[in-house]
Amino acid sequence: MKIWGLVLCVWSATSFAAGAVETIDAHKHLGVATCSNSVCHGSTQPFRDSNVAQNEFAIWQEFDPHAKTYATLTKPAAKSIAAKLGLGDPTQAKVCLDCHTDNAPQRGERFQISDGVGCESCHGGAENWLNAHADKSVKHADNIAKGMYPTDNPVKRAEACLSCHMGTKDRMITHRIMGAGHPRMSFELDTFTWLHPHYKIGEKWIARKGDWNGVRDWAVGQGISAENLLDQLVDPKTGWNGIFPELVLFDCHACHKVYKGNKWGPRQGTGLGPGVVRLNDANLVMFRHVLAPVDKGAAKRVFDETRALHRATTQSREATFAAARRLRATLDELVPKVAAYNYDSASLDAILASIDADAGRGEFRDYAAAEHRQGQSGDAQVQARHLERHAQGRE
Ligand code: HEC
Ligand code: HEC
Ligand code: HEC
Ligand code: HEC
Repeated sequence: MKIWGLVLCVWSATSFAAGAVETIDAHKHLGVATCSNSVCHGSTQPFRDSNVAQNEFAIWQEFDPHAKTYATLTKPAAKSIAAKLGLGDPTQAKVCLDCHTDNAPQRGERFQISDGVGCESCHGGAENWLNAHADKSVKHADNIAKGMYPTDNPVKRAEACLSCHMGTKDRMITHRIMGAGHPRMSFELDTFTWLHPHYKIGEKWIARKGDWNGVRDWAVGQGISAENLLDQLVDPKTGWNGIFPELVLFDCHACHKVYKGNKWGPRQGTGLGPGVVRLNDANLVMFRHVLAPVDKGAAKRVFDETRALHRATTQSREATFAAARRLRATLDELVPKVAAYNYDSASLDAILASIDADAGRGEFRDYAAAEHRQGQSGDAQVQARHLERHAQGRE
């Protein structure tokens, strides 16, 4: 476990040099047809004496929504969104293709954009590892060195998933795209990893690839989501829109609520007064809680720096950028600690106690209450469901 922690530290320390998308797109994408042969990953039955089941393509094609993401762009809902944005055919619009397909810059002969979010969207361009990776004697690390993406590493996995499920500064669901009718994004790493899996994590997987811990995945997902938010906020291209900041980074319910008046109450975590548009700090709040068992002092630091960021948004753009950069540096330092921490049931109790204390102070009056009232499946609900699942299963 200790060694695994170290490996994670090294990985995540290097991860900020090249983003997930750059790594995934660094080599030619050969296309799903290259993976789906019946003796490769296209078997209908699981193979017995292979490291992997080899029926991954069949599972992906039948059950995984990623196989249908291109088809989504041909439907009336997508056409209506694109028309409102003046984009024309959504299957030709880069902004839509970037997240709904494997919009790789370098493509092999068998590559088809209509395959949607195919194998190499997550596993990386196979140009240099395709031939070697089927050989049992080849180590996972050798494949990674040749451009396979480390989806087993929670930090790297979170970065890859969130590049589409939250967006990055280069591909983003803006408030304008939302306004045109795009569904709201909500993502939680552990839950989403297990919604439509074409893989099994058992003893054999652990022997080949290392430890697996669902609570840690959840915790890492919070940290990377929070980093993502801050990166989008400080990017001059995406963070601002005319005289307004990019509204999608703010708490939707600060603006979208039924006007009744007299509902406002203070939140220590923001320190803001009434009538102020708040940044959406849901992941920052959760990251502070997942730090509770790891390092209480660090959790307090995230609390203070998040509050300072909220205050800065009422001062100026420069103050906001400075506060966001300070917090981003803190997260850079703390995410590897969370990724290396061995969460157990005692840590889960510490997290729940930390959340309870916040709830007692009225910290969740903003988004959680609003989400429930509107019956949407937003972050807070996904997270509450997730915690319940872990508390019952004691994973
Ligand atoms: C940053 C990545 C990203 C971009 C950019 C993006 N989408 Fe999406 N889109 C998603 C994700 C992720 C979902 C699934 C959301 C969920 O269910 O959590 C989705 C869902 C949808 C859905 C609903 C699908 C369903 O089955 O309910 C439609 C329609 C859609 N997108 C159309 C578009 C169009 C049209 C564009 C271009 C204007 C676009 N999207 C741009 C990531 C993106
Ligand atoms: C949305 C992202 C995503 C897509 C698309 C995807 N995978 Fe995966 N795949 C993962 C994740 C996450 C894992 C589990 C972690 C790991 O083992 O790296 C995984 C695991 C696997 C494994 C098991 C690896 C092992 O060591 O046990 C195989 C084999 C695999 N995928 C093949 C495929 C094939 C073939 C396709 C296309 C038909 C595909 N994947 C599409 C994310 C993806
Ligand atoms: C290249 C972009 C892209 C990447 C990378 C990606 N996804 Fe997705 N994902 C999508 C889109 C787009 C949809 C919406 C599918 C639709 O309805 O058309 C989606 C849908 C999903 C859904 C179904 C959501 C629901 O509401 O049922 C799950 C679960 C999911 N993704 C998990 C993951 C995980 C886990 C990863 C990382 C290992 C990942 N995705 C990586 C683009 C991506
Ligand atoms: C600063 C206030 C503010 C914030 C924060 C904000 N919005 Fe909006 N939203 C608006 C305004 C203003 C409009 C435009 C209304 C109009 O066109 O008349 C709008 C329009 C929309 C629409 C189109 C509504 C319609 O009638 O078709 C959607 C959907 C939407 N917002 C979703 C969101 C989501 C999701 C979030 C959070 C991620 C969010 N908004 C955050 C102010 C806000």
